[in-house]
Amino acid sequence: MFEPIQRVPGDAILGLIQEFKQDDNPNKVDLGVGVYRDENGVTPIMRAVKQAEKQLISDEKTKAYIGSHGDPDYGSYVLKTVFGANSKVLKDNRASATQSPGGTGALRLAADFIASQLSGKSIWLSDPTWPNHLGVFEAAGVDIQRYPYVDENNRLDFAGMLDALKQIPTGDIVLLHACCHNPTGFDLNHEQWQTVLDVVQERDLLPLVDFAYQGFGDGLDEDAYGVRLLADQLDEMIVTQSCSKNFGIYRERTGCFIAIARNTEEMEDVRSQLAITARENYSNPPAHGSAIVATIFNSEELTAQWHEELDEMRNRINQLRQDFVAGLKPHGLDEQFAHVAEQRGMFSYTGLTKDQVDALRDKHSIYMVGSGRANVAGLSSKNLEYVCKAIADVVK
Ligand SMILES: Cc1ncc(COP(=O)(O)O)c(C=O)c1O
Repeated sequence: MFEPIQRVPGDAILGLIQEFKQDDNPNKVDLGVGVYRDENGVTPIMRAVKQAEKQLISDEKTKAYIGSHGDPDYGSYVLKTVFGANSKVLKDNRASATQSPGGTGALRLAADFIASQLSGKSIWLSDPTWPNHLGVFEAAGVDIQRYPYVDENNRLDFAGMLDALKQIPTGDIVLLHACCHNPTGFDLNHEQWQTVLDVVQERDLLPLVDFAYQGFGDGLDEDAYGVRLLADQLDEMIVTQSCSKNFGIYRERTGCFIAIARNTEEMEDVRSQLAITARENYSNPPAHGSAIVATIFNSEELTAQWHEELDEMRNRINQLRQDFVAGLKPHGLDEQFAHVAEQRGMFSYTGLTKDQVDALRDKHSIYMVGSGRANVAGLSSKNLEYVCKAIADVVK
């Protein structure tokens, strides 16, 4: 039976991790991985999370199922964090939260929901986008279309994006990154969000906003600008949310599928479908991550601690972006890479070519994805000068 099955190549990033491990250069630098790293190259457990876990271990009373929609407290905290405590959508009871196994699980729920309830509609993804967007929607059988996002000079191609959005057939779904666009780091400004909203309204599109990095760009509320603008003005939208990055609980698989409907009645209709989608996929979501998040939000002290640590992570990344451009100045490359300081989130489309990326790996043991996407959090005060010097070597 298994004999005709073909082996497929593994994930490119996993291959990169393997190569990095085998490299014995003591100066090697990993800018490929997709997780936050601190100054020591460690993906730390946040102190607020550790504290919440200690509390959970002693207080937890049962391991019974938590239900297809997950923990209602968790859902309610996520809705408030995403839309803001005073959101009209929440006051009108038009938003439904379904806890999911990570942001990926939320995206898969969205994909299955689109395939089963909005059949015939295509989803439009930015080009480039997080590669798994393609995998998840394809696996669910949703037709995928693309809109441009980056121009040939490695800048946000907003004009190209807009032209494409204006051509999208009425009723199709458009996936937008709320902030910290992965893989490019190019985000929309307020005016651009307004323009996107206008087109979404004109064409009657359904936005699916992927919100995997709230708090990693400019702040929890600042990063929610686009999501909240759309939520305030539109009748319907989908948001897929993740706590993997902003709580650093990647492996606990903690996310949320959110649907906003025209009214409570229709929201409940959609919600009833989501319970079935979740049940058929994995029955119930895992409980540990959502319990951590709810425990933190239940305590003023832990919430304050979490804010402080999230600020620390964000400030570190944004400082590294500045330091990187400053570090390239002595090499006369600061202008060429000035966009890195403007981008937001962990990732940067550096503009380095595939050949330059290969040369960085082969000559200097600096690892990043072939597209020239670097994880800025892989930089540190210890390796920054080395990386800048190596870039100067391969660029010149
Ligand atoms: C744009 C984007 N969306 C969603 C996710 C899903 O994150 P997770 O499933 O780990 O919560 C990621 C993770 O890298 C991402 O970059």
